[in-house]
Amino acid sequence: MNKNRILTIALAKGRLADQTLDVLARCGLDLDWDEISDRQLIFENKSQTLRFFLAKPSDIPTYVEYGAADIGFVGKDTLLEEQRSVYELLDLGLGRCRLCVCGPEALAERWDRLPNKRVGTKYPEVAKTYFAEEKRETVEIIRLNGSVELAPLLDLADVIVDIVESGRTLEANHLVVLETIADISARMIVNRVSRQMKADLIGDLVGRIRKVVEEK
Ligand code: PRP
Repeated sequence: MNKNRILTIALAKGRLADQTLDVLARCGLDLDWDEISDRQLIFENKSQTLRFFLAKPSDIPTYVEYGAADIGFVGKDTLLEEQRSVYELLDLGLGRCRLCVCGPEALAERWDRLPNKRVGTKYPEVAKTYFAEEKRETVEIIRLNGSVELAPLLDLADVIVDIVESGRTLEANHLVVLETIADISARMIVNRVSRQMKADLIGDLVGRIRKVVEEK
């Protein structure tokens, strides 16, 4: 099998997985999506031209930067956090949400003036860069791995930097968006060498994906 004739594609587990798989399933790739099991880590299409695997979102840019995957599908939030050297080829427009600074309603008017802020987040690099470069401010970053909204409720942090999609989690916890840092959606990323070496294969896949995404 000629390795240069196979595309290896990394898919992010979690919130984007279903939507990305749905797009790919409608791309006319000869893959039996029903046969994909949770336990099997790598699966191929019938003509063995495509190889897929699922991984943690934060690992997808790493696989693509090193060329272990030619292509990855991952949220812009992960790309901003990981800062890997990959080529961002396509915005799929899926999984739209915002990366925001959020906090208690009571802080809405004065959060900007609060000294020595503690910021709870799953996105420490994004938060550090945002406060240093946009706000010219040094803050204490408290890294968390989930349920970040708890941090201001329990006085672990003053504010959080997190994803807001429907806004329901904030609302249920009496928190509000204080500022938007970036608009987020799923992106297709490509290894820089693969982009040159496998331009035809990648071009074909991009064409199929564009068609499906535009039909939506
Ligand atoms: C994300 C994010 C918020 C929530 C926002 O968490 O961190 O908590 O979704 O969505 P909403 O605006 O639609 O309420 P996720 O569900 O990925 O779980 P986690 O908190 O365990 O990371």
